[in-house]
Amino acid sequence: MGSENMLAEMREAIEGELKKVISETMQNYPSEYISMLNYQLGWEGDGNAQSAQGKRIRPMLVLLACQAVGGDWHNALPAAAAVELVHNFSLIHDDIQDCSELRRGRPTIWVKWGNAQAINAGDAMLTLAHFAILRLSESLNDADVLNAVILMQTACLKLTRGQHLDIAFEDKDDLPMDLYWKMVEGKTGALLAACLSLGALCGNASIQTINTFYEIGIKIGNAFQVQDDWLGIWGDNELTGKSCTSDLSAKKKTYPILLGIHQGKRFSRAWKEAD
Ligand code: IPE
Ligand code: IPE
Ligand code: MG
Ligand code: MG
Repeated sequence: MGSENMLAEMREAIEGELKKVISETMQNYPSEYISMLNYQLGWEGDGNAQSAQGKRIRPMLVLLACQAVGGDWHNALPAAAAVELVHNFSLIHDDIQDCSELRRGRPTIWVKWGNAQAINAGDAMLTLAHFAILRLSESLNDADVLNAVILMQTACLKLTRGQHLDIAFEDKDDLPMDLYWKMVEGKTGALLAACLSLGALCGNASIQTINTFYEIGIKIGNAFQVQDDWLGIWGDNELTGKSCTSDLSAKKKTYPILLGIHQGKRFSRAWKEAD
């Protein structure tokens, strides 16, 4: 099979697995509640259907990591769905925390349904992720399922640590770069790293390989966040589907801003005066 066909097949299988988890665990739930989840996952609502779903990078990384260690990527689908649900939980809460009104080219869930319902929908996404990963028991032994659950839970907790730092740093201008990297490792790297490790685990890789994949994921996370920081200032919001002013107005300590502050020249004086 050509690589483009394989990627398309993976992508379709991820959507199928996500839909299966929601329909199996949320039977007879209020239709408006289900609509909120469908909206966040890009299956309902106005706008371009493909961009409304986002890039699905994390579940694709799970499947590709599984394939890379010689496993059958189909076995990793429950973990792929789980990480995408964790990611969407984090986006729903992040958009409230950051007061972001636009996500994937559409109004954020809190803009459409209010903060209280959005927080609740985010909680549902996280809980669904925990159900999703348990479906690994169809292809993995109990010890590996438990390891996968621990990997994902650890990433969730580290993600909240990163978010804690990100929010706390809004009021801190003299931030050393090592604290920036600590924040990024939490809010972005931990989940990306868990994706690679989970894929390797599902492909029966050795513990050394699983750990190496984790380290690679942290590095990808660093690069990914710096790029996202750049796009958050100079990106075209028609393409990114996100605001290119909210990071600045919230005084987020993004990579370009910290570089400017640390250089101690015109930008850093202007930044201080803008307080
Ligand atoms: C956005 O992640 C949040 C960050 C960690 C920077 P993505 O850029 O992967 O978001 P979607 O899922 O494609 O919209
Ligand atoms: C990304 O946060 C990390 C999480 C959502 C946990 P950001 O606030 O930097 O990302 P965007 O730009 O809103 O996607
Ligand atoms: Mg944020
Ligand atoms: Mg944000």
